[in-house]
Amino acid sequence: MNKILIIDDDPSVNRVMQIFFKMKNFIAETAKNGDEGLKLLKKDNFDIVFLDLNLPDINGEEVARRIREFDKNIIIVVITGYASVKSVIKLFKIGINDYIQKPFQIDEIDFLVEKMLKNKQIEEENIKLKKNLSDIYKPENIIGKSKAIEEVHKLIIQVSQYDVNVLIQGESGTGKEMVARAIHFSSLRKDKPFYAINCGAIPSELIESELFGYRKGAFTGAVTDRKGLFEDANGSTLFLDEINELPLHLQPKLLRVLQEKSVKRIGDNKELSVDVRIISASSLDLKNEVAKKKFREDLYYRLNVFNITLPPLRERKSDIPLLIDHFIKKYSKSIKKGIKGITSDAIKKCMNYDWNGNVRELENAVQRAMVIAKGEYLKAHDFILEVLSIRDKDDDRGIDVDKMDYKNALQYYTDKIDKIYINKAMKEAKYNKKEAAKILGISERTLYYKLSRMGINFKERSSL
Ligand SMILES: Nc1ncnc2c1ncn2[C@@H]1O[C@H](COP(=O)(O)OP(=O)(O)OP(=O)(O)O)[C@@H](O)[C@H]1O
Ligand SMILES: [Mg+2]
Repeated sequence: MNKILIIDDDPSVNRVMQIFFKMKNFIAETAKNGDEGLKLLKKDNFDIVFLDLNLPDINGEEVARRIREFDKNIIIVVITGYASVKSVIKLFKIGINDYIQKPFQIDEIDFLVEKMLKNKQIEEENIKLKKNLSDIYKPENIIGKSKAIEEVHKLIIQVSQYDVNVLIQGESGTGKEMVARAIHFSSLRKDKPFYAINCGAIPSELIESELFGYRKGAFTGAVTDRKGLFEDANGSTLFLDEINELPLHLQPKLLRVLQEKSVKRIGDNKELSVDVRIISASSLDLKNEVAKKKFREDLYYRLNVFNITLPPLRERKSDIPLLIDHFIKKYSKSIKKGIKGITSDAIKKCMNYDWNGNVRELENAVQRAMVIAKGEYLKAHDFILEVLSIRDKDDDRGIDVDKMDYKNALQYYTDKIDKIYINKAMKEAKYNKKEAAKILGISERTLYYKLSRMGINFKERSSL
C-alpha cells in the first residue's frame, strides 16, 4: 500500500489531503513542521511526501535538501504559494520531483500522484530489468568447469573492474559475445546499455556512419544530423564484433577515436569527447591478420590491451555434459515435454563429435534433439550430428600425411574436403540427400557413395 506524508503548517490542508488519500486507500500521515516531518520520514518508509515551502521552523527548501540526503527514491512534491521560475529550477536541482501551487483542486493532486506512482513503478521495473540483465549475463552463466573456462571466468572478473579495452578471440560459436556481455554487466558501466555492432554484417559504407554519426548534408541521404554509436555508448561499453572485418580504410579513423577519446561526425569539424570502453571480438587470429597486412598493427595493440581467448569446444570436451544439462534446462521452458536428461549413449555420441560449430552447434543439437525426442531421456538417435561428426576410425592426429604415397595423400585430402562441403550442403538441404546432391552439383549416386565412404549410418539419417 502506498504511504504518503503531508508536511504543512496549515491544519486544513493536512486534513483535507489526509482524508482524500485515505479514501484512495493510501496510508496518509501529517506533520505540522519540518522537524516533525523529517523525524517521521526517518522512522518510516514513505513513497511520497508533500512538502509546504513555508514552514514555521525550517525553510521548506532546506527540508527538501535534507530528505534527499537520506532518501534518494522518495517522491518529493513541493507545495508553494507562488512559484517563480528561478525558485522552481533551484528546487528541481535539489532533486524534488514536482510542485503544485496553492490553492489547488483535489483532482490536481490526484492526477499528480497517479503520474508520480506510475513513473516510480516504471523506474522500479527498469531497475529490476537491469538487475535481471546483470543476472543473465553474470560470468557464472558461462557454463564449464574445464581449466580453460575457469580461467575465462577469472579473467572476466579481473578485467571487468578496469576500463581497459579487451579483445576476445575464439572460433565461431565459442561464446565471445557472451563473454563481452559478462564483462560489461560485471563492470561499473553495467547500468548503462550494452552497445554492439557487427562489422562483418553491415556494408562498409554504413559502418562508418553507424560508428561515427554524420551531419545533415554530409552525403546524399544525410537528411538530418545523426549520432553515431560512439556518442550513444558514451559512458558505456561498445562491442565491436567481427572486428577483423573492419575495412582497412576505416581502421585509422577508429584508431584516432581510441587515441583522442573524441569523435567527429562525418561532415563535421567539431570534436565531441567520448568515454567508451571497447570490447572487440574476432573469430580469426587478429595477429595473423596483422601479418597479412589486413589489419593495422597499431590498432591491434590499442584493442588488445587485455586478451581473452576462448578454446574450441573440442579442446574442452569435459564441459559437454554440463552444457547439455544446461541447455536441456534452458529449453524445457519452451519445449514442455518433461525431458529429464540424456542417456549415456547419447552423451558418448556427443563426446565423440568434433563440434566445429562449438557451443552454438551443441546448443542447436540439444534443442533439435528435444523436439524430436520420444521419451523422457534424449537418446543417441535424437542427435542429428553433421556428416563431419562421423570421424574416421583413425584419429587425424595419428595420421602423418607426409609419409603417405601421393595416391593415398590425395584420397585423404579429397575425403577431407568432401566432408566439409557435403556437410555444409546436407545442412543446407536439411539432410535431404536429393536436395544436397543438387546443391553440390553431383549425382545422388555419387553422394551416396561419398557418404558411405564416410561411414554414415543411412538408416539413422533416412529416418529423419
Ligand atoms: N560456456 C557457455 N555456456 C552457455 N552457453 C554458451 C556458452 N558458450 C556459448 N554459449 C551459447 O552459445 C551460443 C553462441 O555464443 P556466442 O554468440 O557468444 O558465440 P560467438 O563466439 O560470439 O559466436 P560467433 O563468432 O558465431 O558470433 C549462444 O547462444 C550462447 O548463449
Ligand atoms: Mg558473436
